[in-house]
Amino acid sequence: LSSDQYSLVKSTWDQVSHNEVDILYAIFKAYPDIQAKFPQFNGKDLDSVKGTPDFALHATRIVSFIGELVTLTSSEANAPAVQSTVEAFAVRHHNRGVTKDQFNEFRTAFFSYISSHSTWGDNAAAAWNQAIDNIYGIAFTKL
Ligand code: HEM
Repeated sequence: LSSDQYSLVKSTWDQVSHNEVDILYAIFKAYPDIQAKFPQFNGKDLDSVKGTPDFALHATRIVSFIGELVTLTSSEANAPAVQSTVEAFAVRHHNRGVTKDQFNEFRTAFFSYISSHSTWGDNAAAAWNQAIDNIYGIAFTKL
């Protein structure tokens, strides 16, 4: 990412990164097949699991991981760390039966959330698209 792109990713992310439960809720709401891959949430009513400690725990894990990637993206020197972190993450998800199609669903739902809860625009959209293309380019070699 260029430094302008990084600034846009960082500033929009900072506006939503405290909404972890809302973000996970939006993803499950849009794509119940993603929820169904979680043994602890599969078959349960989304609105009734939303307030549980298990839900908060997983929401925090996802948001922390995205935050870690955003931070690593700040410097090209971190490219090897991004590569190994994302490969390991993708292997764990592959082993859980998560598919590329589901990663693309996640992307759509995440984009929809962040674009409607931050100061958004064409440049922010382009920066996030580039960032996710980079991460998914690595992840998809293992899914
Ligand atoms: C863990 C499913 C995408 C971040 C997990 C777990 C499941 C899962 C079942 C294990 C939960 C547990 O043991 O409590 C899925 C599905 C996805 C998806 C179906 C479909 C798109 C993502 C994405 C991210 C993410 C895109 C981050 C950007 C994490 C993290 C963990 C995790 C950080 C915990 C660490 C680990 O075990 O890998 N995921 N996931 N997941 N997921 Fe996902």
